Amino acid sequence: MMYARALDDTFARDVRAGLMRAGQKTLPCRYFYDELGSSLFEAITNLPEYGLTRADERILQKHAAAIVDRLPRNLVVAELGSGTGAKTRPILEKLRQRQIVVYYPIDTSGSALAKCNQDLGRLGAVFPLEMSYLDGLREVAGRRAPGQPLLILFLGSTIGNFEPEAAIDFLHAIRQCLTPGDALLLGTDLVKPAPELLAAYDDPVGVTAAFNKNILARINRELEADFDLRQFEHVARYNQDLQRIEMHLRSREYQIVSIRKADLIVDFVPNETICTEASHKFRLEQVCEMAHAAGFHPEMRWADNEWPFAENLLRAV
Ligand code: AVJ
Repeated sequence: MMYARALDDTFARDVRAGLMRAGQKTLPCRYFYDELGSSLFEAITNLPEYGLTRADERILQKHAAAIVDRLPRNLVVAELGSGTGAKTRPILEKLRQRQIVVYYPIDTSGSALAKCNQDLGRLGAVFPLEMSYLDGLREVAGRRAPGQPLLILFLGSTIGNFEPEAAIDFLHAIRQCLTPGDALLLGTDLVKPAPELLAAYDDPVGVTAAFNKNILARINRELEADFDLRQFEHVARYNQDLQRIEMHLRSREYQIVSIRKADLIVDFVPNETICTEASHKFRLEQVCEMAHAAGFHPEMRWADNEWPFAENLLRAV
């Protein structure tokens, strides 16, 4: 009975699968974002070393009019992983100058969606969907009127968290919810020198380390585990071949951890790591290749020079 209930819980099941593996242990990075984790991520976006979010915001701010000009009339907007929707405001404001705004923020954080509704509700009709990306998108696709175009926003380079093949599969799944002419605005962090990337993911204040370790604290809180956070160290590595930053938690010593609600006892040898996140960086050609492979035509892009990052407008073909 206990066992069946534990396996029913997706978090418990994912933690179990990731830590039971022979070889590299892993935890899915989507579990970073509980309430504390989301606050820590917000703090990361304010770090001088982490230019990604500011670049994303600068491009959207600066080019909102040009972006909106390229979009079909009377479209409906849906955003995957909207958070509070702060970045999206300039787009919705421009859109409002020509049409009624209908906006579906999709996020698994109810508190972020509540703030989103509060902050952006004045601009139009906001329909928050507390769901996974694809469930939310299917809901939006099901609700749209015939002939009404869709704009999907997938910002912040969250696409970088997918393995290259999985990224194409995911974009393809988005494409399946769309009809030709619909648009996807995709944010992609671009390759840059390794020292800059390493500083962005291993800041001297230790905010990213706290963000990383919080995933273990969350497992302790929610799955009745006994990780000793002091016995794990934050590590950021740049993998040149795979063109990605990896975050790990490295065990300082031999230790045994019990995770009651995942029905798991797991041991760590000294220096063994748990890989908690991979954040792929893109070259512009790779973004185009990925778009084509998923059934989109890359129509236009806007880039930031201060922190190489691109906003790509892709059109469903
Ligand atoms: C939200 C996935 C874009 O990979 O840069 C920030 C998350 N991890 N610092 C990223 C993150 C560590 C972030 N994304």
